[in-house]
Amino acid sequence: PGNGAKPVPGTDFDPVPPNRLDKVSIPEGYDQQVVIRWGDAVVPGAPKFDFHRQTAAAQAKQFGYNNDFVGLIPQDPLGVRNLLVVNHEYTTEVHLFPADQYDPANPTEEQVRIAWAAHGLSVLQTFRDPIGGALRTVSSPLNRRITLDTEFEVRGPAAGSKYLRTSADPTGKRVRGTQNNCSGGVTPWGTVLSGEENFHQYFANADKVTDPEQAARLRRYLVGTGESTRKWERFDRRWDVAQEPNEPNRFGWVVEIDPHDPHSTPVKHTALGRFKHEAATVKITADGRVAVYSGDDERFEYIYKFVSKGKYKKGTSAHARRHNSALLDEGTLYVAKFTGDSPGEIDGSGKLPADGEFDGTGEWIPLASGDKSFVDGFTAEEVYVFTRQAADKAGATKMDRPEDIEPNPVNGRIYAALTNNTDRGAAGKAGVDEVNPRNRNKNGHVLEWEEDRGDAAATRLRWRLLLVCGDPAAADTYFGGFPKDRVSPISCPDNVAFDAHGNLWISTDGNTLGANDGLFSVPVSGPERGHVKQFLSVPVGAETCGPVVTDQLVLVAVQHPGEDAKNSAEPTSHWPDGGSAQPRPAIVSVWRKGRFGLVGRIGQR
Ligand code: FEO
Ligand code: CA
Ligand code: CA
Ligand code: CA
Repeated sequence: PGNGAKPVPGTDFDPVPPNRLDKVSIPEGYDQQVVIRWGDAVVPGAPKFDFHRQTAAAQAKQFGYNNDFVGLIPQDPLGVRNLLVVNHEYTTEVHLFPADQYDPANPTEEQVRIAWAAHGLSVLQTFRDPIGGALRTVSSPLNRRITLDTEFEVRGPAAGSKYLRTSADPTGKRVRGTQNNCSGGVTPWGTVLSGEENFHQYFANADKVTDPEQAARLRRYLVGTGESTRKWERFDRRWDVAQEPNEPNRFGWVVEIDPHDPHSTPVKHTALGRFKHEAATVKITADGRVAVYSGDDERFEYIYKFVSKGKYKKGTSAHARRHNSALLDEGTLYVAKFTGDSPGEIDGSGKLPADGEFDGTGEWIPLASGDKSFVDGFTAEEVYVFTRQAADKAGATKMDRPEDIEPNPVNGRIYAALTNNTDRGAAGKAGVDEVNPRNRNKNGHVLEWEEDRGDAAATRLRWRLLLVCGDPAAADTYFGGFPKDRVSPISCPDNVAFDAHGNLWISTDGNTLGANDGLFSVPVSGPERGHVKQFLSVPVGAETCGPVVTDQLVLVAVQHPGEDAKNSAEPTSHWPDGGSAQPRPAIVSVWRKGRFGLVGRIGQR
């Protein structure tokens, strides 16, 4: 067992040391494989990837760029046939094109169209190797690419809103495409929810909007001013806010994709509010309704919960999928307020208060339910479309960049990654509180809470911090009370997942400790609570995403390898193809090498 500690089911591996290697580093006794990489075929008839001769038509059939969320949906009890659903968050144009072909000041129309096709999601039919964790993608009628040109249906209380109408869509109910899809969740009914996150960066000229109320709303979402980085506004007026001031309001939603039906129209669910959704994960309430948790990933933004009005129907049949998806169109949207129980003791240094915990109570403040608003000065329509301002008014707690949120299937508690906030305590900015206890929080923390009576519909909760991340040798870190000389350093928690044993798995983005990002396991109960161990590290400049952890395999998305040279055409990574090849974002499967042909089980020797 690693580090001399008693092994915990699911985490019995020797940790990978922090490193700067241009590869995926995994523990001794494990094997790995690239499942699919940017440019590989998704849809039948996709041409072979050619970095020097890429076209928009080819990219629309190939695996997109910068994979973030990964969902693995078993299609049989053994998990041999699986649907793999991956999103493509954004494009890094200087790495998407050969340096001698791409002029950032003057992209060609074809290059812009390639970028549109590189966004969205991919759905793939896969087969798992029965004696390992290798996943083979196959040609299938279920395979699908969703891009910035795919039509979405807007549903819920803000569908058709005057704030969503544009010259191309006077109904306010049909949107072309999804973008900046970050983390998400597989629903109990077998669909995928995906959060539209940093949509603001694609728009130009928000500063040219003269109506003061409209301008203030655009500023609150940091919608782009002047020319955009990618210059898309030159080829489609919808990216030019001066011409189409409502187009930004058509992004920033939770979208739902039905991977079982390749002809289904994907949905934007307005009842879940509009912000930089990082994730959307479901927990069924005590009385059988659907709760969805979501964070708004920006400094000093909020954590939200939606609770449906109607009740969930078990199963993944077409009927159940339709019924349960419709539940997300009517319910109550809440925002979280967290209160500490050691006021006056939090000085921003990260020192634990005298009661030994960063902890306290919380409440869910209702913002709107159906067409009823609970926020003074806001109609329900305004709550859904300008959710950030409504949450400001409601007095929600300003958090250190809420990223992924995930309910633990074993203990029922909810976990949220707060990735970092270097502005906490800066001049003119909010200072510390017990739930965000560090000034200039570079390394982030992990929050755990228990809803009242364990019911996801509750409006009260109790919380505590599981981790205050960073170098364990530093005084301002906390690892759930576990001895810090036995843990792996961890920085900037982002996407999270649980294994079947209830251990939390944390992938990181933006390690400030001088090593590559990685994937870490941590038990949340018993004497090993807080025992963080690094399971893998990703190549240079990459962010670790996904993850999916089953008893057979671990899947991670390696996002933007080589991107620590973000503005340079010379990437710092050549993974996975090696040599002088262009880096390619990809999905990697890792599994324990089997003995005597038995299935390798993660962490079980
Ligand atoms: Fe796309 Fe908040 O990470
Ligand atoms: Ca306390
Ligand atoms: Ca993220
Ligand atoms: Ca992130």
